[in-house]
Amino acid sequence: MPRHFLRDDDLSPAEQKEVLALALELAGDRFAKRPLEGPRTVAVIFDKSSTRTRISFATGVTELGGSTLVIESGSSQLGRGESISDTTEVLTRMVSAIVWRTFGQERIEEMAATATVPVINALTDEFHPCQILADLQTIAQHTGGLADGEAALAGRSLAYLGDGANNMAHSYLLGGATAGLDVRIAAPASHRPDPQILARAEEIAATTGGRITLTEDPREAVTGATAVLTDTWVSMGQEGEDGRGEETFAPFQVTAELMGLSGGLFLHCLPAYRGKEVTAEVIDGPSSVVWDEAENRLHAQKALLTWLLEHPDDATAAHAR
Ligand code: CP
Ligand code: NVA
Repeated sequence: MPRHFLRDDDLSPAEQKEVLALALELAGDRFAKRPLEGPRTVAVIFDKSSTRTRISFATGVTELGGSTLVIESGSSQLGRGESISDTTEVLTRMVSAIVWRTFGQERIEEMAATATVPVINALTDEFHPCQILADLQTIAQHTGGLADGEAALAGRSLAYLGDGANNMAHSYLLGGATAGLDVRIAAPASHRPDPQILARAEEIAATTGGRITLTEDPREAVTGATAVLTDTWVSMGQEGEDGRGEETFAPFQVTAELMGLSGGLFLHCLPAYRGKEVTAEVIDGPSSVVWDEAENRLHAQKALLTWLLEHPDDATAAHAR
């Protein structure tokens, strides 16, 4: 069985540290690993739009010695109703890994159930775990990097403001808890995280020394936070939904005043909407590390691909859930 990366807790705390350590190494030496030499092919499939994910996987696979096959699902038979299992059967006979951006998490779980090569979640409605690896790498880079080969993230704090029920919030909960971070989510009562994911994050945090806080008070969340993060108020597929405007989220806009309470870094997975979830003053200001964060998608995903290909059928697999 291959190892997959479908959600943040598919890597144990120790495994996440290994991937982050490799990501930081690759940021310094881009061609240190060539696991896809051959070249081997990685399929990258998009059911939704993408800029960063598309560029970073295509570039990353090339730098690992491989070749990328980017498929817009609308131009494939998957987009015309061919089943996920039939598509998976064909893919896994030819490619060395599958990266998929899709809608419901159950779709990628279905693919992984029969895939004989690693399947990587490139964003679903529920999670965006590749992004969180890049974000953790960025925080480590800007706050002291690694100590003895381990990501020195434990004890640091991350405050996420905005839509607490979206893929980024869920991944910050699971990935942040795995890293031993103090994760604070400030969201309106109408957009709270999925209770099961919240409970899972608390369970992980109890083993890593992390902490989980859910609040409706953005000031409480950001005070003293190592990093303040936000995301669009309208995720892909949510366009036109009621209750996604300023009437709901305005108090959670990341402003210079909130950044002053934090004194830390500003991160945003991008794309960003200036004047909505963050002011231009913040995202274009001195505390913003969003371009390093975007670049780290490349290094983090190369590290992840390398790690997954090096750990097939690993007995220490983290699939506790
Ligand atoms: N952050 C992110 O995943 O960007 P794209 O949607 O452009 O891939
Ligand atoms: N929550 C956003 C993230 C985009 C990278 C979305 O799903 O559209």
